[in-house]
Amino acid sequence: MKNKLVTGFSKLSKKEKTTWLSDNLGINTATLDKLKDFQCHDQKTQDIIDGFSENTIANFYLPYGLSPNFLIDGEVYCVPMAIEESSVVAAASAAAKYWSERGGFRTTILGTTKVGQVHFSWNGEYQKLIANFENIKTTLLGSVGEITYNMNKRGGGIKDIELISLAKVGSNIYQLRVTFETCDSMGANFINTVLEQFAQTLEDYFMQHDTFNDDEKDINIIMSILSNYTPECLVRVEVSCPIDEIGTFSNGMMAEQLVEKFKLAVQIAKEDVYRATTHNKGIFNGIDAVILATGNDFRATEAAGHAYAARDGRYRSLSNCEITDGVFRFWMDIPLAIGTVGGLTSLHPLAKLSLEILGNPDAKKLMSIIASVGLAQNFAAVRSLITTGIQQGHMKMHLLNILNHLGANDEQKEEAISYFQNQTISFAAVRTFLSIEV
Ligand code: MEV
Repeated sequence: MKNKLVTGFSKLSKKEKTTWLSDNLGINTATLDKLKDFQCHDQKTQDIIDGFSENTIANFYLPYGLSPNFLIDGEVYCVPMAIEESSVVAAASAAAKYWSERGGFRTTILGTTKVGQVHFSWNGEYQKLIANFENIKTTLLGSVGEITYNMNKRGGGIKDIELISLAKVGSNIYQLRVTFETCDSMGANFINTVLEQFAQTLEDYFMQHDTFNDDEKDINIIMSILSNYTPECLVRVEVSCPIDEIGTFSNGMMAEQLVEKFKLAVQIAKEDVYRATTHNKGIFNGIDAVILATGNDFRATEAAGHAYAARDGRYRSLSNCEITDGVFRFWMDIPLAIGTVGGLTSLHPLAKLSLEILGNPDAKKLMSIIASVGLAQNFAAVRSLITTGIQQGHMKMHLLNILNHLGANDEQKEEAISYFQNQTISFAAVRTFLSIEV
C-alpha cells in the first residue's frame, strides 16, 4: 500500500491516529489494539509522557535494569540502565564487581563549561569590529541580566564571549563564541535563550550606533545555537591495579598475558578507525544506558564523544591503557554534558527514580558515574574479546530472545536454558533443539 500525504495529523486524537494507520497503511486492528497495553495506567503520568513529544500513540518500552557494585571515588552505587542489548547490564555488573575488589573507579572532573555560538555576517572592516568589541560585549551581557539572574545566583552564567572571524567560510562571516557554566542543569534551553537574545541585541547595536554607516548597520544573523561539542565539560575516569592482582580468567589466561593482550587491543583501537568505532560503541553501550535512565540526551553525548575521539584529526579509541612498573592502568577522558535538574530529569518518573537510586547526585557526580559505567563496559567487552570471545556471554544472554522469537513455552525454555549451558548457542541450534522444521 502506498503511503499518502496527510494534513492536520497532529490534531487527530490517539484513537484517530491509530484508525488512520489501519485505514491508510493497512495495519492490523488487533495489533493496534495491543497499543493499549503500552499506555501508563495512571493517566496523569501518561499525559506527562505524551507531553515530551508529538503525535504519540503509545510508549515504547526498553528494559530498565540495575547494575550494582559500582565503587566510584570511595562510594558504592547501584546504577540504573535503560538498554535493549542483552549482555550490556550483565557485563557492566561483572566489571563493576571485579574493580570493586581492586580499588574501584577513580574520577576527576576536568571541566564543566559549555559553548554556544551566534553566527552572523557583517559587511564592515574586521578591525572596526574588534575595536568595538569590548563595548559590544558589555551591551550583550547587559541585555541578558534577567535571563541569567537565577543561573548567576547558583554560581553559573556566562563566563566569556569571544569574537571569531570565519574567513574560511567568507570574509564577512563571524562567530560569537560564548562560554557558559550551567551548574547542575544540562542547560540547553538556558544557553539557547541567551544566544537568541544576543542575536537580537547585536542587530540592535549596529542599528543604534552612529559610528556605523548604512552598510555596516546591515548585520545578518545566520543562526544561534549551543554547541554539542563539549571538550571542556570533561571527566577523567580510571582503574588500575598491580598485575599480580589481575587474577586468572575462565580460559586459563594468566595475568601478564591478559594485560599485554588488553593493551594491544586498545592500541589497535587507537590506530584503526574500524576497530575504534566498535571499541567506542562498546563504551557508549554503558554511557547511553545511564544517560537514558537519568533522562539525559544520549544524542548530544554521543555526538560530543565521537567528535572528541577525533580531536587530533583522526578517529581513535576514547580509552587508553598503559602498563608501568608492574601496574595495569586503564582510563579515558570523556566529554559529558549532562544535568541532574531541569529537562526530563524530574518530569519522567523513571528518570526521577534513577537519580534517587543514585543518591540524587549533582551533575559532576553523575558525570563520574556515567564515565565509570562507560569504562566498565569497555573493560568487560575488551576482556571478553581477548579471552573467550564475545559470543559466549552475549549468546547466553540472547538465548531467551531466540526462544521467545521461536515461540517456546515455559517448559521448553527451562529445558533449553539447561541444555545450552554447555553448548554453543545459535539460532539454528535452538531451532533444532525445539525440533522446529525450517
Ligand atoms: C557490542 O555491542 C559492543 C562490542 O562490540 C564492543 C567492542 O567490540 O569492544 C562488544
